[in-house]
Amino acid sequence: MGKIIAIANQKGGVGKTTTAINLGAALVNHGKKVLLVDLDEQANASIGLGLIRDDLNQTTFEVLTKKSPVETAIYSLFDNELDIIPASNKLAMIEDELYNVENKELLLYEKLQYIKDKYDYILLDCPPSLGLVVDNALFASDSVIIPVECEFFAYDALTQMVNKINQLQQKKKKKGMHLFIEGVLVTQLDNRSVYSYNIVDQIKQMFPTKTFLTMIYRSSHIQAAPMQGKSVIKTAYNSRGSKEYRALAKEIIENNEVKTDAI
Ligand SMILES: Nc1ncnc2c1ncn2[C@@H]1O[C@H](COP(=O)(O)OP(=O)(O)OP(=O)(O)O)[C@@H](O)[C@H]1O
Ligand SMILES: [Mg+2]
Repeated sequence: MGKIIAIANQKGGVGKTTTAINLGAALVNHGKKVLLVDLDEQANASIGLGLIRDDLNQTTFEVLTKKSPVETAIYSLFDNELDIIPASNKLAMIEDELYNVENKELLLYEKLQYIKDKYDYILLDCPPSLGLVVDNALFASDSVIIPVECEFFAYDALTQMVNKINQLQQKKKKKGMHLFIEGVLVTQLDNRSVYSYNIVDQIKQMFPTKTFLTMIYRSSHIQAAPMQGKSVIKTAYNSRGSKEYRALAKEIIENNEVKTDAI
């Protein structure tokens, strides 16, 4: 049974898309079958993996608004290594489009049920907001990764995100569904800044058991990879950034194995 993980933080530019692309590629590198779902109207994950916006006629917008099968929106990349459902800027109109639809926060959950078994991991790249698309992502997910950038405003965003997750946990519980925090991921860490490390300490105090051991440092390899339409694992396999995302994938796989063993 595949595991669906949302990568979410309503704060912009914290590394959600970078994590979706590189964690996805790193899980593939560990032999896992992965689908990435781009839920952001900016379509950064789609473009960062080499897709061309104008070529995409089946996207997450069509998945959420049409009765057509979800399979029609899956594109296979790099010789079928990684699958993606891309996004388009039509997602900006989704709230209006679904205005009168009942249970509209469950649409993605329902669609992904058809394909969940075909994958080991389905990663959802969320937009920087807390609207209907993020509700859909959190209803559809088994767990959430919250990337946080090491800067002063990180806490406020983190608190809001955790409140949102708590709200969704309550709603999901009533339907017999669960939502776990997979982990808080420190991103864009600057090893020359003592201040960054202070923030890391405070994040670890806030989430003593939920902060990933792996942290992602600032890296020009990570920053440059999307320009080639590839992950850093493909553009610079031995770089620090590639090693960190591969370590993160290993940590997630091992955490899941521990949990499965415990059942
Ligand atoms: N570890 C890193 N090292 C260097 N640059 C990074 C790193 N992680 C992310 N970036 C850069 O920071 C910017 C924001 O990252 P990204 O797009 O992943 O954030 P996001 O949370 O998805 O943003 P948005 O909220 O707009 O969707 C990008 O230019 C990206 O290349
Ligand atoms: Mg993004």
